[in-house]
Amino acid sequence: MKKLQGKIALVTGSSQGIGQAIAIRLAQEGANVVINYRSHPEGAEETLAKVKAAGGECYMTDGFTIQADTGLVADVQRMVSDSVAHFGKLDILVNNAGIEKNADFWDVTEADYDAVMNVNLKGVFFATQAFAKHVMVTQQPGKVINISSVHEDLPFPHFAAYCASKGGLKMLTRNLSVELAPWGITINNVAPGAIETPINTKLLNNPEQLGALLKNIPLKRLGKPADVASMVAFLASAESDYVTGTTFFVDGGLLWNYQEQ
Ligand code: BGC
Repeated sequence: MKKLQGKIALVTGSSQGIGQAIAIRLAQEGANVVINYRSHPEGAEETLAKVKAAGGECYMTDGFTIQADTGLVADVQRMVSDSVAHFGKLDILVNNAGIEKNADFWDVTEADYDAVMNVNLKGVFFATQAFAKHVMVTQQPGKVINISSVHEDLPFPHFAAYCASKGGLKMLTRNLSVELAPWGITINNVAPGAIETPINTKLLNNPEQLGALLKNIPLKRLGKPADVASMVAFLASAESDYVTGTTFFVDGGLLWNYQEQ
């Protein structure tokens, strides 16, 4: 019996990067997966094909793609209710979609601040609310996994709104772990460090910046989306039933690395 057999998972932002790897990994563990995208339908289709193939010949996994801007409350509510309507229930919510904007603090515009906070925090808040309401009715256990960042703790100069959103996500998870526990819902954060994904395209194409970053990573490599996905698979499964309200760093040691030269 596969770890997530019979489970239905919704993964936001799963048309690329970490979200795509999570969707595929959860399907490999036996889950059916709802693949959310905002503006890359072709990426979402690619994820869907891999989700469907994930079970191999002897085990069928299913999925469907759904367009929704997770920065919009009406969109996230529709996304959750359509997922429930399609599969009849939802067991696992992975709030993965996230964006960042690089600017000096004094130049940050209201539009950029709102864009970051809406996707990284407000959308997570209301997707989790819609998911919790569903789980409360079905009285089945629920798992919420938020993809946060080392920057829920670690300052990242020139990314002030991003850090504020991830710091908010840290506290949201702590708070909801207490409030949702009576309903059998656990909620945890996975906090990646530097991972090879499209959000890091600029960095990956800048050898000098990349070299400086690698010096700060004790394990001396960037992470891969699959490194993050394996932690999510654990948190989505019954193996983590006694785990809630905490953050798991997947960062090659980046966060706690300090050395005097
Ligand atoms: C950010 C990346 C950054 C990494 C390590 C992530 O949260 O999205 O841009 O490279 O943290 O600092």
